[in-house]
Amino acid sequence: MTDVLPPHVLAEMITGKPPRRDTFEGWQHYRTTRGQFTAAPKLTFAQWRALSPHRRSLYDLHRTAMHVNLPLQETPMSLKVSRLVNRRMRNNALKQKPATRAGVMVTGWGYQGKTETVCEVAAGFEDAWLDMHNHLNPTAVEGTWDLHAPVAYVQTPVTAKPKSTCQAVLDFFGAPTRTMNLPQLISQAAQSLHDHGVKALILDDITRLRMHRADDQDTLDLIRAFMSMNVTLILVGVDIPGSGLLREARWDAKTRQWVMPPSDHARIHGFETTQTERRFDLVELDRFRHSTTAEIAAFTDHLRGIEQQLRLLKAKRGMLTAGGMPEYLMRRTGGVVGLLERLIEDGAQEAMDCGKEFLDEGLLDEIVISLDDPGRDPGAGEVPPVPGATRQPRKKTAGTARQKGGRASRNTVFDDHGPRSAAQG
Ligand SMILES: Nc1ncnc2c1ncn2[C@@H]1O[C@H](COP(=O)(O)OP(=O)(O)OP(=O)(O)O)[C@@H](O)[C@H]1O
Ligand SMILES: [Mg+2]
Repeated sequence: MTDVLPPHVLAEMITGKPPRRDTFEGWQHYRTTRGQFTAAPKLTFAQWRALSPHRRSLYDLHRTAMHVNLPLQETPMSLKVSRLVNRRMRNNALKQKPATRAGVMVTGWGYQGKTETVCEVAAGFEDAWLDMHNHLNPTAVEGTWDLHAPVAYVQTPVTAKPKSTCQAVLDFFGAPTRTMNLPQLISQAAQSLHDHGVKALILDDITRLRMHRADDQDTLDLIRAFMSMNVTLILVGVDIPGSGLLREARWDAKTRQWVMPPSDHARIHGFETTQTERRFDLVELDRFRHSTTAEIAAFTDHLRGIEQQLRLLKAKRGMLTAGGMPEYLMRRTGGVVGLLERLIEDGAQEAMDCGKEFLDEGLLDEIVISLDDPGRDPGAGEVPPVPGATRQPRKKTAGTARQKGGRASRNTVFDDHGPRSAAQG
């Protein structure tokens, strides 16, 4: 029996969180360790009971680690986003012409998997790019760091200003920024993107920018200037069409792209002599829906994938996919992957704790989905409403809490809060 956890998982469980993805080291850690989780074997209740107490507790630790690290699964919605983002990153990276590269905006509602989907595709792109270049930066400048970073992942600061945004970019590379003024920061950020061979710059949570504020408009203008570095800009945010981010953009029906005005920063800082407009594809990462047979099948497939990852000792085949379960889970989560993950993760923990060792509606009714994640900005719509949440969850754990005193109310009507973006026609 494999009852030994993979060393990096064990290390992370003991030392706390893995490094943040918005640093070079953190990104490399994520890229090189993603998908490496070693699954715990499937045991029956009798096999588990036959283990020594020590091996049993190791096995329980291993399966708990599995339940809280459910793997990313490809969905029809994530595939649509991945394809476009990958195509843009790859084709732009191979482009030799001096023209600026079209960027991509990825929109969707909170917890729908935007960050994970974009990071996964970007990490895959980086794997392929590094492979192709044999881990050498083909544009390395002598005397600079020997640090090749085809992808830089940056989170938009909660109160983004041009200065803090440049700092966030430079922080990714661990570059000192403290004594610099804005022009120095801008030129340093541009230099870093060039020197480290950055091909794709991901700016996550871009809708933290409030476009009625002058500072934020100025920040967006600066971000557009980075496109002059021949970098593919990937902007990720909640409800981009409704955020005001496209206020100054026009829709080009022929190319099906959003066109933004040229960047003043690019002109002022001499990145560009001609004034080039900026083009973006807008793609929405939708939630699961259940109107058509194909949509229902996609959701059931996803549930099947989760079911295969669960290590509950009395689980039966079809635990999540048979009978009324898909409909129930759709009702509880509104088809939002992140909410589903939260519900299942805590349901599995509860099933282990209470000895039931399988999931059913009765057990899941006791679980209240709570989203108290300090990394997300509720003001920017990054924390979605939870369907059927009729009361404030008690903060028992960081994830979900068990509700005492009966069944959680189940709202059969959840808001259709994920309109397909008009921009995509
Ligand atoms: N395709 C998927 N398969 C399985 N789980 C997924 C998938 N996509 C996302 N998740 C899970 O859902 C949770 C939310 O995903 P993520 O953080 O990417 O959402 P988001 O859309 O970026 O949310 P926010 O707008 O709040 O930043 C994560 O814990 C992630 O592991
Ligand atoms: Mg996110």
